[in-house]
Amino acid sequence: MASGGTFRNLLLVLPLYLALASLVGGEASRRFWIENDTFRKDGVPFQIVGGDVHYFRIVPEYWKDRLLRAKALGLNTIQTYVPWNLHEPEPQSWKFKGFTDIESYLRLAQELEMLVMLRVGPYICGEWDLGGFPPWLLTIEPALKLRSSDSSYLSLVERWWGVLLLKVAPLLYNNGGPVIMVQIENEFGSFGDDKNYLHHLVQLARRYLGNDIILYTVLSAHTF
Ligand SMILES: *[C@@H]1O[C@H](CO)[C@@H](O)[C@H](O)[C@H]1NC(C)=O
Repeated sequence: MASGGTFRNLLLVLPLYLALASLVGGEASRRFWIENDTFRKDGVPFQIVGGDVHYFRIVPEYWKDRLLRAKALGLNTIQTYVPWNLHEPEPQSWKFKGFTDIESYLRLAQELEMLVMLRVGPYICGEWDLGGFPPWLLTIEPALKLRSSDSSYLSLVERWWGVLLLKVAPLLYNNGGPVIMVQIENEFGSFGDDKNYLHHLVQLARRYLGNDIILYTVLSAHTF
């Protein structure tokens, strides 16, 4: 009888212990990184099955429906661009509500247990007007050299990312959010090869997002 009681106690205690262990270890082990050419999530190898679902092309009322459909297709990760021109339609007129409420979109993806790869540009291409550049950039004199290390252009990128990346930082995976990677620029090689520009963007991203975030870029097929 005594040993039966002990056994029963063990059965009761074990799940409790496991639950506590995952609770205590949970935050500390929440980490996404690359090791030996393998994505690792919370210590175990992870295969990304991703696809693009762009919040700004969908009315917020349908976000959940679209994300659930993507999940039903087998996706575990969503990519989205961030269009600068919708978030700053006039200089410093920041828009983050309604269909530009990117934070709500990212949190919704997390609620639905999907990860996010965020494509912040600043140039996104994305079959979007001027690749997401606000049109007012073209009215500035002397003319900006877009997508280059032109200091006037870069200072406007810094102002924009200073607003955007502060919102993104708490949503990084290692900080408790869904964002596992952040994309810098898009198809840049096919346009120019100003390496200083890319280095500047990387430094800027790291200033707000830290050294652990995985940064990536995307080249177009005809770059190779
Ligand atoms: C990665 O490779 C190194 C060198 O072969 C090895 O020591 C390490 O354990 C590997 N890491 C994982 C997570 O497999």
